[in-house]
Order: sequence, then C-alpha cells, then structure tokens
Amino acid sequence: MLRWCAIVLLVCTGAFGNPTPEMPAAYDTIIIGMGAAGCTAASTLSKAGKKVLALEAMDRIGGRVNTVPFGDGVVEVGAEWIHGTEQSRVYNLAIQNNVSVLPQDIDFEVYRSDGSIGDKKVLNELLTFSLSVIDDPPETPEPLGQFITRRLKDYMKEKYPALLADQDFIDNLLEFLDLVIDNYESSNSWNEVSTESKYTELGGYQHMSWHRHGYKTLFEILLNTYNNGPGYPNLDIKLKKEVTQIAWPQDPTQDVVVYCKDGSSYRAKNVIVTVSLGVLKERHSSLFSPSLPKEKTEVIQNLGIGVVDKVVFLFPKPWWPDTETFHGFVWNGADRATVSKDDSWITKIFGVSTPLGSSTALTLWTSGEGAKLVETLPEDVVKRKAMELIRRFMGKNRTIPEPIAMLRSSWYSNPYTRGSYTYDNLSTPQYPHARATLAEPLVDSSGAPRVLFAGEATDNTHFSTVHGATDTGFREANRLLTKAKL
Ligand SMILES: Cc1cc2nc3c(=O)[nH]c(=O)nc-3n(C[C@H](O)[C@H](O)[C@H](O)COP(=O)(O)OP(=O)(O)OC[C@H]3O[C@@H](n4cnc5c(N)ncnc54)[C@H](O)[C@@H]3O)c2cc1C
Ligand SMILES: *[C@@H]1O[C@H](CO)[C@@H](O)[C@H](O)[C@H]1NC(C)=O
Ligand SMILES: *[C@@H]1O[C@H](CO)[C@@H](O)[C@H](O)[C@H]1NC(C)=O
Ligand SMILES: *[C@@H]1O[C@H](CO)[C@@H](O)[C@H](O)[C@H]1NC(C)=O
Repeated sequence: MLRWCAIVLLVCTGAFGNPTPEMPAAYDTIIIGMGAAGCTAASTLSKAGKKVLALEAMDRIGGRVNTVPFGDGVVEVGAEWIHGTEQSRVYNLAIQNNVSVLPQDIDFEVYRSDGSIGDKKVLNELLTFSLSVIDDPPETPEPLGQFITRRLKDYMKEKYPALLADQDFIDNLLEFLDLVIDNYESSNSWNEVSTESKYTELGGYQHMSWHRHGYKTLFEILLNTYNNGPGYPNLDIKLKKEVTQIAWPQDPTQDVVVYCKDGSSYRAKNVIVTVSLGVLKERHSSLFSPSLPKEKTEVIQNLGIGVVDKVVFLFPKPWWPDTETFHGFVWNGADRATVSKDDSWITKIFGVSTPLGSSTALTLWTSGEGAKLVETLPEDVVKRKAMELIRRFMGKNRTIPEPIAMLRSSWYSNPYTRGSYTYDNLSTPQYPHARATLAEPLVDSSGAPRVLFAGEATDNTHFSTVHGATDTGFREANRLLTKAKL
C-alpha cells in the first residue's frame, strides 16, 4: 500500500528517480517548534524577507511558555519571570513596546508545619546567603548541596551558634533550601547539581513579571501581531503539525524534506530544529535521516533535563497576606514523620507563590521525581492533598476556603516537551563543550548549514531560560542570514 502511494506520487510530480534539483524549494527555511527560540528565529528571518514555514506540534504557540486565562486575569503554567533585565532581548522587547513589566521580590514569609510563623528575617538572611555562595564556587566541582551546607554552617557558626546547635532546625532548613534550589534548577536533589556550571545571570531585576499582560505578549511582539499588528506575510505558521522526520541532503543542490505525522511533507533550503532536549532524547534516532553524528547523540544522552511543575488554585477571593510573593513551608522533623509514604510528595513542595497576573490565584511548585509523580495522580487527589498542605501551614488563624478552580502543568508527560528545562548535573563538567556541540549545524558537502539547532539547551550560559532560548533563535537565524550574504 505504501509502495503504491509512493509510485503514484512520483508519477504525478513527474520526478522519477531523484527529486529534480531545479525544482525550487517552497521555503527558504522551515522552523520546527514555535517556542521562544522558534518564534525569535521566525521573526528574525521574516523581517529579513525570507520565506519561512513554522511547524508546531501543539495547538498553540509558546512551547514551555503557556499563559492561560484564570479568574480575573491570567496565570503562567510555564515560564513566569524575565530573569534579569540587563542585555535581555526579552526585557528589551517588552520595554520597546511599552509593555509595563513589574518586579517581584524573592522575600519569603516562612510558615512551620505546626502552624506557627518562622523567623522571617533570619530565614531570609540564610536563604539569601545560601543562594549567594553559588556565585563563588569551589575550585574542584562538588555537589551543590554539600557545598552550600558547608558554607552555611561556617556562616552560622559565627552569627547564629545557638541555631546551628539545634539539629532539627538545621535539618529542616537544609531540606527547605534543597527544595528552593530544585525549583530553580529543575533537579531532583541539590546534590545532583554541580557547583561547576557555565550558567550566568543577567544583571538587573531577577523576577520581572508580565503580570496581566501574560508572557504570551512576548510571542505577539515577536510575530508582529501585538496590538493588532499584521504579522509577517512571508511567514506561514502551521499548528498541530507534528514533525516525524527531517531528511537532509549531502548534495548542495537538493532540498531538506520535512515529514509530518499527518502525512504531509515540506521542502526548504534549510531547517532550524528547536525541540527540547527531552524530545531529542526520546526521538532523535527516528527524527533525523541520516542519523545524527555520534558527537551529538552523546551530548543528547549526557546533558540532563529536569522537571518543575505548577498546581494553580483559584479562590473566591484572596485570603493570604499580600505582602510577600513567596510563602515558604518549613517542616518539623516530627510532623514530617507522620506523612505516609504515598503522600511524601507533599513534603517536597517548598511553598506557594502569588502570581501577579490574577488577584485570586495561588501557585504550588513541585520538582524532580515529586513533580513526575504528581503528574500521574488524579486531579481530586492532588487537590485534596495540596489543600491539606496549605491549611496545615497557613490555616492556623484563618479559615481557608475551597478553591473554585484548579490548573496544573504536566511538562514531563507532554510528548512535545518531556521535561521543563536543562541543568548542569555532576557529570556535566566532563563535557565542557556539550551545549556548543548540540548547537553545531549539520552541513552538506559544500559546508552549507542544512539542519540548525536552537533552543534553551543549546545556550552555553543562559540555558533553562526564555531569554536564553530567544538568543539561540536569533543566533541561528543570523547564521543563515550571514551565510546568504557571502
Ligand atoms: C514550569 C516552568 C517554569 C519556568 N520558569 C521560567 C521563568 O520564570 N523564566 C524563564 O526565563 N524561563 C523559565 N522556564 C524555562 C523556559 O520556559 C524555557 O527555557 C523556554 O521557554 C524554552 O524555549 P524553547 O524555544 O527552547 O523550547 P520550547 O518552548 O519547548 O519550544 C519547542 C517547541 O517545539 C515543539 N515541538 C516539539 N516536538 C515537535 C515535533 N516533533 N514537531 C513539531 N513541533 C515540535 C513544542 O511543542 C514546542 O512548542 C520555565 C519552564 C517551565 C516548564
Ligand atoms: C511607546 O510610548 C511612547 C511615548 O508615549 C511613544 O512615543 C511610542 O510610540 C510608543 N511605542 C510603541 C511601540 O507603542
Ligand atoms: C497564629 O497566631 C498565633 C498567636 O497570635 C501566632 O503565634 C502564630 O504565629 C499565628 N500563625 C499563623 C500561621 O499565622
Ligand atoms: C547527568 O545527567 C545525564 C543525563 O540525564 C545522566 O546520563 C547522568 O547519569 C547524570 N549524571 C549523574 C552523576 O547523575
């Protein structure tokens, strides 16, 4: 049956044997995936007058950014903040378009599992100290948790000897810090994370929120549709188009052909692949024909992608103090011991945050193996257990109402993401060029790039972020534009 279809196709196009080299490619470039990297590449190439086709598997644009209407505003199911405002393409696009983004503070209100309120000042000081030592790593790489623990204990020896002597306090503080780090890194434990990382922070505000505009505004700006903009006439975007194979030629006169799950195929001079590292891990062997070179498949295996998920509740009205962005949950050893093994994921939630896009929503964060487990649990179980948790920590002096709606992410189960973002684990220092290798284009016999790679994982210093992903889309679009000028 397959063979018969193929013959009919050949007869119809009159192209027996090899495809006719004279036939012009329908597009200059095909972009696979319309997340931050893909949209930036599409925007850059379209502005330069290229004919671009964008193929996106999901039914929406944005990828790991997903702004959803919720309550009286919106919430972010994926990326929430612009991390750093200096030299940020993302921040600059907001400002240039008069979109007022707002800074949020990383100050924690701290609740204990017995319902009391923790010493906010001391706990925030210890948290800030712990995060700051990351910028001053040891000469020999070691597990991040081990390093922070050592530095923190040294610091407390001087300043808080009585607290340092309280073993239960230290144990629970370290558990809490571990969870905060895991939610930054998408790791399962802070001891999986290496102190040696090429990640660098941008300067300026670290938690800039798109609040009621939503992160989706970035994509409207990029695609020239913001404020009823007309878009780009030379950019063709197709949603619900899962790409199953990219056939790329050695022969400089032939096109790249991209095959989709629905049976359609498209041709172009070149292709920019922006799918996540998780998707590459799962399908690289079937996605590329011929297969990827060994250097690349090794990197795909050895780099790590983790999971961070959110559970967002909508309440009839806000019942929490609106002074802080974060409400941290610090367990006591005795209370933690009463939680059954099946429910232990609730002890892996560092607390809740108040999203700025909606005035009556609260976000719970999970990470690592806990997050993967929560994705598999029925909605009513997650809701009941999570509300028990919130009431245990924040409900001592108030009656917390039942939520009226709930949203949750499933970035690991999602076949088009297979994880939240990449991080440098203990093996990464052995592969110092991993991200650069992942970013290397596949070239034909004339040396022209035919398959290019963008996406957060390919940024050496700003991986795991939207601004990093955006930079890689710009980088690969420019690789093509400068080549064309030669
Ligand atoms: C919960 C969470 C919180 C985060 N918080 C922040 C934050 O506060 N600040 C920040 O800067 N970053 C944050 N991030 C990270 C940020 O979202 C990502 O780094 C960034 O969005 C990645 O963009 P990308 O273009 O590289 O990949 P993606 O956004 O994953 O884009 C790739 C696209 O390819 C598509 N695709 C996959 N397979 C196929 C296929 N076979 N065919 C066609 N299309 C396909 C996907 O559907 C997707 O749309 C967060 C991420 C998560 C999940
Ligand atoms: C932003 O606001 C300034 C001042 O009001 C105005 O001059 C400019 O045109 C605006 N830019 C955009 C992109 O709307
Ligand atoms: C509840 O009130 C008591 C007494 O005022 C106080 O000690 C405790 O910290 C409060 N707990 C919370 C969670 O507000
Ligand atoms: C780091 O991550 C990679 C990819 O997931 C994995 O193969 C490797 O075993 C991890 N290293 C360690 C020390 O856990």
